Amino acid sequence: MAANAKTITLISEEDVLNEAMECPTDRALDTKPLAEEHAFAFWQKDIPEEYWHLTAPEIIERVRVAREKLGKRCIVLGHHYQREDIIQFADLRGDSFKLARWASQQAEAQYIVFCGVHFMAESADILSQPHQKVILPNMSAGCSMADMADPEDVYASWDELRDAGVGGIVPVTYMNSAASLKAFCGKNGGIVCTSSNARKVFEWAFERGERVLFFPDQHLGRNTGLKLDIALDEMPVWDYTLPYGSLGGNALEQLERARVILWKGHCSVHLRFSVDQIEAARRRHPGINVIVHPECRMEVVQAADMDGSTEFIARTISEAPADSEWAVGTEINLVSRLARENPDKLVFCLDPVVCPCSTMYRIHPTYLCWAVESLAEGRVVNHLKVDDETARWARIALERMLAVP
Ligand code: 13P
Ligand code: SF4
Repeated sequence: MAANAKTITLISEEDVLNEAMECPTDRALDTKPLAEEHAFAFWQKDIPEEYWHLTAPEIIERVRVAREKLGKRCIVLGHHYQREDIIQFADLRGDSFKLARWASQQAEAQYIVFCGVHFMAESADILSQPHQKVILPNMSAGCSMADMADPEDVYASWDELRDAGVGGIVPVTYMNSAASLKAFCGKNGGIVCTSSNARKVFEWAFERGERVLFFPDQHLGRNTGLKLDIALDEMPVWDYTLPYGSLGGNALEQLERARVILWKGHCSVHLRFSVDQIEAARRRHPGINVIVHPECRMEVVQAADMDGSTEFIARTISEAPADSEWAVGTEINLVSRLARENPDKLVFCLDPVVCPCSTMYRIHPTYLCWAVESLAEGRVVNHLKVDDETARWARIALERMLAVP
């Protein structure tokens, strides 16, 4: 069944859910001028007033002119979760790791304009060549999950575990984390993982230690541990909000038995998905394939047919047979795009309220326009630079990940 567009009328929760099922997310999030967007609240300081009211056609034309002037000196990268109005300018779209790696291979590109969030641009800078500069069009585009692992909290927890005599710990950080935490892992015999290689990375860590301290996403950590047959009671959660001395809310024996110590972080976008939504999708479309991101909670991942990274989800659906049906548990911009690009399949988002990632959304096309026009005029704005010492150690942790077969 191909995608059709219906508007949702609020009647009951079940009706909303059902209507959403029939409305396979081809609601593009159309760009309004910056001044009219909610995102204006998160505006990029220093952007001249002349940009505030640019319309979509004006932005498109101005970006085109600036990019023509810059030629191969500039590349624009778009993460899967970016709105369509950004993706249209991207030379490559993909997950955070694919984008960072690809950018570093584009030797002619002096400027890498990264349309994604802060930790992604940092990783691109860490992996970039010395002559390349990474630009993040809006410096306030962060990741709320990454922010849940404040480096000072992680260092304090590490010390607390050591002082309590809990040994054999290998620190593993999710790609969605600050560069300083990647560096911390590099310095302490640890490693980085993405949602596509978490299982292999955990195996790597267990060859080197008894247990893993995983941050920031407890759900990816738990889902990965379960795939390795680690019991739930061997995966305590470390509550970083508790004071030093509280052992993150755990008894010492629990930590001594632990295989994976899970940081109490989460992604609010992926926590919206529920088992009820999966059941409603199956009632409505018997035999439908349910595919979710491993940042979803354990019950949701277990109820789904498949789980995997953004890249895995995109590839699986694109390569699926015509007429297949897909209920998807990940960010709406990616799901909408998959629905549009696969008109011979039914693709819709499990969540009827379809909440976009609000920080990804902070990359408004106007900011991109300002960034490339500035570059074309010889001014580098929003240059994101990780300091050399942090980058050196973070690169070690990233390279360890790359070497994992
Ligand atoms: P990827 O690393 O797969 O791009 O995922 C990033 C992300 O933020 C998922 O929520
Ligand atoms: Fe961060 Fe979640 Fe947004 Fe991904 S979807 S960038 S984890 S807040």
